[in-house]
Amino acid sequence: MNHRFRIAIDGPAGAGKSTVARRLAQRLGFLYIDTGAMYRALTLKALEVGARWDDPEALAQLARESRIELVPAPETSRGIRVFLDGREVTEAVRAPEVGRHVSKLAAVPQVREVMVEQQRALAAQGGVVMDGRDVGSVILPDAELKIFLTATPEERARRRWLELQAQGYAVTWDEVVRDVTERDRLDATRTTAPLRKMPDAIEVETTGRDVETVVEEILRLARGGGRHALPDAQTPGEASPLGFLPGGPDRR
Ligand code: CDP
Repeated sequence: MNHRFRIAIDGPAGAGKSTVARRLAQRLGFLYIDTGAMYRALTLKALEVGARWDDPEALAQLARESRIELVPAPETSRGIRVFLDGREVTEAVRAPEVGRHVSKLAAVPQVREVMVEQQRALAAQGGVVMDGRDVGSVILPDAELKIFLTATPEERARRRWLELQAQGYAVTWDEVVRDVTERDRLDATRTTAPLRKMPDAIEVETTGRDVETVVEEILRLARGGGRHALPDAQTPGEASPLGFLPGGPDRR
């Protein structure tokens, strides 16, 4: 088997990337890397320390001195636990407040430089499913399979609304639509690494389709259509904790 196969999943907010990516990784015994969680963790820190949003260098410095870790947690609903400087922030990074600021931080080229370097290091061994906005375009431009996940704007807002409700946030439908729309606009129009479907990415629609159906479709593409197709049988590997520089992984 090609245990170094890399699957890049990009798409707008609420397209189902993390659910599909986590499930795919589980099916293949691959590592799941949620690059958005890294931007969210850094955004949380920027909010907490009162960072200046108009100072790219200060934000990049904050990125360099932060220790963001993703620890595989297949037993949890997101499949991953997020740690910021040793503190668990898995739930905190999903707060609406973080969602409202993250695209501003993610638009800063100097911040992206730091993040992309860490993300490439994480995927270096291969055997990964990585989701985000620039995985197929910047982080892993030579990924064996690139998927662009989509859903209608209504469906994407509905998923985000359900997710926030389930977490106990009292957000209105209009707020969710406004936030998701604004985040997509910022992500798609920024100068550095904007969200876009790469010519060699395969578009997969998720509206009205259940997760397993979508996952099966991508598995078929991986086995038959990737640039270095996966064989039929795949031996699940053991996922290991991830550490982001500096400092390396905390063993938990
Ligand atoms: O809410 P959703 O799961 O769709 O987004 P996310 O994957 O958690 O990403 C949050 C935000 O981080 C995005 O809206 C982007 O602004 C930014 N991001 C990025 O710029 N590049 C990535 N590779 C991943 C996320």
